[in-house]
Amino acid sequence: MAYRNIMVVGDYNDMSAVAAKIIIDIILEKPDCVLGLPTGKTPAGMYGCLTQLLNDGKVDLSRVCTYNLDEYVGLGPDDKESFHYYMNSMLFSRTAFSAANTHIPNGLAADPEAECGKYEDKLKRSGKIDLLVVGIGINGHIGFNEPGSDFKSRVRVVELAETTRKINARYFKSLEQVPRRAITMGLQNIMEAKRVLLIAGGNEKAPALARAFNGPVSEQVPASVLQRHDDLTVIADRKAAGDLSG
Ligand code: GLP
Repeated sequence: MAYRNIMVVGDYNDMSAVAAKIIIDIILEKPDCVLGLPTGKTPAGMYGCLTQLLNDGKVDLSRVCTYNLDEYVGLGPDDKESFHYYMNSMLFSRTAFSAANTHIPNGLAADPEAECGKYEDKLKRSGKIDLLVVGIGINGHIGFNEPGSDFKSRVRVVELAETTRKINARYFKSLEQVPRRAITMGLQNIMEAKRVLLIAGGNEKAPALARAFNGPVSEQVPASVLQRHDDLTVIADRKAAGDLSG
């Protein structure tokens, strides 16, 4: 039976604080937990709150495993626009996560398809993700699962939608520099997590959130597959939740 808990909070900072608390509670409850982590503007505040909580609490992170949702093909840890760089600057350089236990797809792999197989195998060996945190794209994507992604999809190389490239161009010098491909966890990987936490903030996410949760489950709105998840929590600020019914 799908369980869905939609929490509407006041603003972006409230969303960030509530999300960070959910993560640290999982870590305290299960010190060898496996976390799935997102990147982007939305989780930046969450990582700030989480860093504070982990350091203040001197929380033992030595056995926590993390897996990021995605990475651009062609970018590596030294590229400021890469998700490796984002995670190192937003979280890993400020906290005591063990580098051996943090995993992000290798965007510089000579054979990106082979890298997908390796990442999939690592995920399998880690066992189920205890908590997977996701954002949502304005076109309803989660990770880099663009509209039309198969619900049974697993770790793979994807072509980025032009809408996604255009909106992510804000982090690059020009649209031309935005990679056209990425490695992403698939929708099946996401659905296999024991618990999923979706975070959303701002007016620009209201239509996508409404399509994901008011509308039918459809591959045209990848996030809508989460309606079928057994343990989903959505934390949205008032602006992002503006079009949600019920
Ligand atoms: C990016 C990422 C997603 C993220 C989404 C929204 O392309 N691949 O994981 O959730 O787009 O990002 P933001 O939070 O910056 O709006």
